[in-house]
Amino acid sequence: MTTIRKAVFPVAGLGTRFLPATKAVAKEMLTIVDKPLIQYAAEEAEKAGIDTLIFVLGRTKNSIIDHFDKAYELESELALRNKTELLKIVKDTVPEGVNCVFIRQSEALGLGHAVLCAEAVVGNEPFVVILPDDLIDSEGDNCTQQMMDVYDEYGCSVIGTQTINISESNHYGMVAGPIIRDGLSRVDEIIEKPLPAEAPSDQAIVGRYILTPAIFEVLKTTERGAGGEIQLTDGIAELRKREEVYAYSFVGKRYDCGSKIGYLKATVEYALKHNDLADEFRQYLRQVSV
Ligand code: G1P
Repeated sequence: MTTIRKAVFPVAGLGTRFLPATKAVAKEMLTIVDKPLIQYAAEEAEKAGIDTLIFVLGRTKNSIIDHFDKAYELESELALRNKTELLKIVKDTVPEGVNCVFIRQSEALGLGHAVLCAEAVVGNEPFVVILPDDLIDSEGDNCTQQMMDVYDEYGCSVIGTQTINISESNHYGMVAGPIIRDGLSRVDEIIEKPLPAEAPSDQAIVGRYILTPAIFEVLKTTERGAGGEIQLTDGIAELRKREEVYAYSFVGKRYDCGSKIGYLKATVEYALKHNDLADEFRQYLRQVSV
């Protein structure tokens, strides 16, 4: 049995790529069909057995706190009207036995800093980090579960990766190292957003990490890196000098919902899988397809 119970969701980014939609609404509250991105991320964690969701929030992210709060008026109204299915949907936002903790990241100093903000709540335990912008659809076990299985076997930090076109390396943390087994390698090199000529391989980090608590000590002394921010990637570069870190090429399809095109692709594909919508939407797409 895995001992990982806590997941950290860094949700401090400004979401400038979606302005004006994200002027007053957190980008993690943008919906794919009928659920906000942050809820997909929370459900992935819950399905993998996480019982403590830790949100590290920037200003203007209060809608995330509201989303995971109990909605008394709505619930009593739905109960009065006997809308049992809707009531269940509302209540299931945070299932029984799951706790939410909200931490303010008062300065937007980067992903590494956001993770460090969770130290007091995570304590001396391994934990998961999920970036909700990266929506991952897996047929079998979800990405977090797959990575937990790797952690259970090897007991070291695990980073989720996928193969990308190397021309896009400047958008990702990039890793390289010797292969341990199919889909799993050791991280010997790791660098944040290198130019293609400097990328160590075509293996890019996606927004899933399992980290040992040793990362916190490292992040305390990590200096500002790419984009002037305290980068988690730089922290992991230091961590791997102290203990092994593995890169795991997960099974599943990742949508970059931090970009408009990735967001649109996810919307279309999730709608095509949606119980109530799939048939009508498929028909509609046939009509409009060019
Ligand atoms: C972050 C990480 C980067 C990773 C990416 C995955 O970058 O810093 O290493 O490859 O997420 O989505 P961001 O997209 O927040 O700039």
